[in-house]
Amino acid sequence: MIPVRGTFITFEGPDGSGKTTQVRVLAQWLRERGVQPVLLRQPGGTPLGERIRSILLDSRSDLELGPVAPMAELALMFADRAQSIQQVVLPALERGEIVLCDRYTDSSEAYQGAGRSLGSERVLALHQALCGDLQPDLTILLLPDVEQALERARRRNERFRRQHGGKDENRFEVEGDAFFRRVHAAYAAIAAREPQRVVTISGNGSIETIAHSIREIVQARIAAFVPA
Ligand code: TMP
Repeated sequence: MIPVRGTFITFEGPDGSGKTTQVRVLAQWLRERGVQPVLLRQPGGTPLGERIRSILLDSRSDLELGPVAPMAELALMFADRAQSIQQVVLPALERGEIVLCDRYTDSSEAYQGAGRSLGSERVLALHQALCGDLQPDLTILLLPDVEQALERARRRNERFRRQHGGKDENRFEVEGDAFFRRVHAAYAAIAAREPQRVVTISGNGSIETIAHSIREIVQARIAAFVPA
């Protein structure tokens, strides 16, 4: 892997954890301090990735294409990731920029590894093979209570479906509670395994309370970038 100079921050959490809002809030705060972060989401964030996203997240895909095999789902998540590393993340890090990425390999470990029961080992082996083992400098993990997060995610997807003529981003949210309990437990296990990289914010705090905690974490970690 090419040596990198920027800072790579990922946001993780179950559906409805509020991480997308927090990426936006942190990005705005950085811009107000003269730092222009590069924003990215997975799956998505590149033209190829956005195509992959629409296949993987639309609940109609299983009807139109035949049930998507869990291994195919995992492979597509990594195809998306390999593309965005090549096209967006590495160039930005080489320019010395801050990359804020909404989901990364921890999502594959939590959703495909645990949710779909494919196992962590397989996911981590793919990460090594396809992502050059590129690790975030910092991962912010939002872990609200399972029920509340799911309710929020399902409400949001209903809005999305109404606004996009029946197309949805619902394929994962229709999974049962047991799936999301496995996802939640896997995230907690990743955080326990890698305390240097992963900082967990648990519970159901307000947007502003959580944003404040995130700013403190980021300031402590990347003081060189962000003037106080
Ligand atoms: P989001 O953009 O709203 O977070 O939705 C992305 C969905 O895709 C979410 O349900 C989690 C799922 N996902 C995986 O299952 N595996 C992955 O590797 C990634 C990046 C996302």
